[in-house]
Amino acid sequence: MAFDIDMIKKVYDTMPARVDKARELVGRPLTLSEKILYAHLWEGMPSQKFERSKDYVDFAPDRVAMQDATAQMALLQFMQAGKSTTAVPSTVHCDHLILAKVGAEKDLAVANTQSKEVFDFLSSVSNKYGIGFWKPGSGIIHQILLENYAFPGGMMIGTDSHTVNAGGLGMLAIGVGGADAVDVMAGMAWELKFPKLIGVKLTGKLNGWTAPKDVILKVADILTVKGGTGAIVEYFGEGAKSMSATGKGTICNMGAEIGATTSTFGYDDSMRRYLNATGRADVVDAADKVADYLTADPEVYANPEQYFDQLIEINLSELEPHINGPFTPDRGTPVSKMKEEAAKNDWPIKVEWGLIGSCTNSSYEDMSRAVSIVNQAVELGITPKAEFGINPGSEQIRYTIERDGIIAAFEKMGTKVFTNACGPCIGQWDREGADKGEKNTIVHSFNRNFSKRADGNPNTHAFVTSPEMVAALAISGRLDFNPITDKLLNDNGEEVMFKPPFGDELPTKGFDVEDPGFQAPAANGSSVQVIVSPDSSRLQLLEPFQPWDGQNITGAKLLIKAFGKCTTDHISMAGPWLRFRGHLDNISNNMLIGAENAFNNKTNSVKNQLTGEYQEVPAVQRQYKAAGIPSIVVGDHNYGEGSSREHAAMEPRHLGVKAVLVKSFARIHETNLKKQGMLGLTFANESDYDKIQEDDTINFLDLTEFAPGRQLTLEFVHKDGSKDIIMANHTYNDSQIEWFKAGSALNLIAAGK
Ligand code: F3S
Repeated sequence: MAFDIDMIKKVYDTMPARVDKARELVGRPLTLSEKILYAHLWEGMPSQKFERSKDYVDFAPDRVAMQDATAQMALLQFMQAGKSTTAVPSTVHCDHLILAKVGAEKDLAVANTQSKEVFDFLSSVSNKYGIGFWKPGSGIIHQILLENYAFPGGMMIGTDSHTVNAGGLGMLAIGVGGADAVDVMAGMAWELKFPKLIGVKLTGKLNGWTAPKDVILKVADILTVKGGTGAIVEYFGEGAKSMSATGKGTICNMGAEIGATTSTFGYDDSMRRYLNATGRADVVDAADKVADYLTADPEVYANPEQYFDQLIEINLSELEPHINGPFTPDRGTPVSKMKEEAAKNDWPIKVEWGLIGSCTNSSYEDMSRAVSIVNQAVELGITPKAEFGINPGSEQIRYTIERDGIIAAFEKMGTKVFTNACGPCIGQWDREGADKGEKNTIVHSFNRNFSKRADGNPNTHAFVTSPEMVAALAISGRLDFNPITDKLLNDNGEEVMFKPPFGDELPTKGFDVEDPGFQAPAANGSSVQVIVSPDSSRLQLLEPFQPWDGQNITGAKLLIKAFGKCTTDHISMAGPWLRFRGHLDNISNNMLIGAENAFNNKTNSVKNQLTGEYQEVPAVQRQYKAAGIPSIVVGDHNYGEGSSREHAAMEPRHLGVKAVLVKSFARIHETNLKKQGMLGLTFANESDYDKIQEDDTINFLDLTEFAPGRQLTLEFVHKDGSKDIIMANHTYNDSQIEWFKAGSALNLIAAGK
């Protein structure tokens, strides 16, 4: 699996001098997060201090990770960069495209047939460009990253929001869009607004039924789903040291549920134990040499209120198990309050399913603590009242827990063991009867529980809790069962009680695996063919976008004047369209179909200026393109908010839209437009939006003078021949103007500039 010890040593070699310099520039002790950020500046040695929540900073991450759904377009784009290998070590993980239905063996075979072309493409492109490829069935991206690649003090980006899981090993690991992954793999800097910092001080020690999961369920309850936005959450204190590295991973994983940029913990013995157990003693040796740099300066933790923007304190000794939900992970209910809450809110009491696993909670410790409850149920003579499913996080976990009898114990209770993959966590669960839409309750140890997420049924009330609590609730069959105080009736009608869960942090016999499912890339991939069938509906090789011809854009038609909210979902809808995310032409049939036309207040209905008819947006744009007519899109405030989905910028570019002129942009989308060689412009005078008419033809008057800080002049010619001159602002710097001229940022890289 070849984790890159040389790369890690290089990070540690440069870290002390960079951190010392940063401390001098900032003029005070540093938090761990700041140390890692300053040690990963694109410029190398820090030369200035940055202001939190304000400065945009270029970073140089150590690794890139991609999951199978988001990797497709990222790698299709990377192929455009003309590189022979990725600039930093990168991996691809096949985990999202596997349906959970009857059990691992059959489900995996079905996925390998249904998504064969995607897996073949990902495997061949990985092989060619030096990317580690984790096959379907190898496990879930974040579990594999923790087991193989995460390291204290490192910085990683991944095309999945739960990349943050690797904070359990003291990394700054951040979920990004495909465009960011492409930049880093192509050797460009990665930009992030310098985050603010939330400190969470953990005192006391977990005990009894309380698990690391309860820490983050409590934090989510306090901070809500938006409370971590723009922030890194740094956990510290005696309580932090007392938890396993995988438990820390669970806490960091669900940092995504509070919107945090990422979360992390300082380097400690739990990390040493985990690194050693996963075959990385040399990382421990290297990390130990710079241990002071892998945790905050002592003054920070002594007076945390001085160094964090917000501080939360949780006493683990007093923390109760939590059950969060339904429909949102920040609605926290301590187990002792569930009877009251469930009755008050009319939540279905009967638990139908208990699901254990996902990237959040599938460590050896999780499985062994959960099975300790299952084993007790067998001994106490209780037949579980709900169905059980587990999806192990990796083949290494699955193999080891099978060897240690944990799977057999689960199976004794009729548990379905699904593939080592996302499965029910991403709605890839063909749950029998879900289509009836009945109101019901399930409990799981995953991270997200939004409506329809697990089984597509909007009436499924999903509650998130720890694996051991899932086991207890599923066995009792009741959402309001409190295993700390309540008795259960066994099959003979006798009153019995569970003892608190127990388990091993790490397998006493060590981890084991026969075939981890890893494909190492070719040493020299130059002759490797990337496999994409020309008649595939799901994948399409990209053609480089055309460079700018150096002329003013003239005779452009207004495609749509979008009114109100226009998010990346309105521009490039998700849902069933995700099937085409590796096929730019096919997915472009969803371009702007969710945007509201300001002239008729309808979605996906715009006037075709060639025929005068109202038609669907992509259809009209395709006719303009076929006729060689450029077009522009006009929008309202915060255009492109939502996600970093690069398709929202690539689709208009592909279909021939030249410019997007709006009142204001969501910044990431604006950058994505720039990268794709589009013009992203804002009204110098917002009220000019009202001057734009449905039949307008647009001429750029001074695009030939395009320069940083210089407004552009656009002439809008109305149907009656009258004209309005509209001034547009832009934020292009010199190099971004070069992207525009070259046709895209990747074209420029491919040209070796
Ligand atoms: Fe997969 Fe669910 Fe994690 S979709 S990556 S298991 S959050």
